Amino acid sequence: MTYRGTTALVTGATKGLGRALAEELAARGADLVLVARSRAALDELADELRARTGVTTRVIAADLTDRTSRRAALAELGEQPIDLLLNNAGAGSVGPFLGTPLAEHVDSIALNVEALTELTHHIAGAMRRAGRGTVVNVGSTAGYLPVPYQASYGATKAYVRSFTEALRVELRGTGVRVVAVNPGAIRTAFFDGKDVTIDPRAYDTPERVARDVLDHVRSGRAVSIPGMKANAAMIVVSSLLPMRVKARVMAVLNRGLGFDRLGAAE
Ligand SMILES: NC(=O)c1ccc[n+]([C@@H]2O[C@H](COP(=O)([O-])OP(=O)(O)OC[C@H]3O[C@@H](n4cnc5c(N)ncnc54)[C@H](OP(=O)(O)O)[C@@H]3O)[C@@H](O)[C@H]2O)c1
Repeated sequence: MTYRGTTALVTGATKGLGRALAEELAARGADLVLVARSRAALDELADELRARTGVTTRVIAADLTDRTSRRAALAELGEQPIDLLLNNAGAGSVGPFLGTPLAEHVDSIALNVEALTELTHHIAGAMRRAGRGTVVNVGSTAGYLPVPYQASYGATKAYVRSFTEALRVELRGTGVRVVAVNPGAIRTAFFDGKDVTIDPRAYDTPERVARDVLDHVRSGRAVSIPGMKANAAMIVVSSLLPMRVKARVMAVLNRGLGFDRLGAAE
């Protein structure tokens, strides 16, 4: 596929990976529908991309954790054909499960699982009627193993991975492609406000990840592990370990990052 002349809808488009995807898509000639909560940030980005690349941009401000807001966003989208859906918006609690507010976990499930599922149902349905389109679901390497101190986040990404793999098979032969994107750590706003220090060498830049993702989608890959090679290696190694061993290894790694000391202790 080529991106020029297609219309891509990107959720979580104003920061981090979503912003980098929007910028890279615009540079490659795709028209954009940009979704996030902050209308001001969306308008600013849309104006900037339009001025820089000449693509058409449209913004839809919505809180995707909120069912009413999600429905309003889909109603606002209306019948506009979407060639590429990038379910990118995601968030997660970091810290001991019982020491972090329940709302962080529940909101993460609403955004990473419910919103992704609802947008896919709506937009992939239209794609199937049109006989063409691509759905790209952003998971994480965290979807391959249990992640103590990011327990609910890891579980949401396991859902994204499983859902995406299953849907790809269901939609085979319909003209609708379904692609799983599972990045490792990216230098974004994800950890903002959380007292953690991660070695910058362990992070990919959002720009590199976005370029890899769009190259992988373009070349027809079903699963994209963008960014540094260590991510793919980690997935292979972890596939050899039993679930409970993976959980223990991840607990040691996340304790090393201080994740066990975050949040308010009970
Ligand atoms: N960063 C990492 O290390 C990493 C690693 C692997 C996978 N990922 C995945 O990559 C994706 C992007 O993460 P990121 O690190 O780029 O995130 P980020 O920097 O925190 O940006 C999140 C984006 O989503 C929007 N957003 C947040 N909550 C929203 C809501 N309720 N409704 C609508 N939009 C919302 C934000 O804009 P507003 O605040 O204006 O809504 C922003 O545009 C996520 O799915 C994440 O799980 C990240």
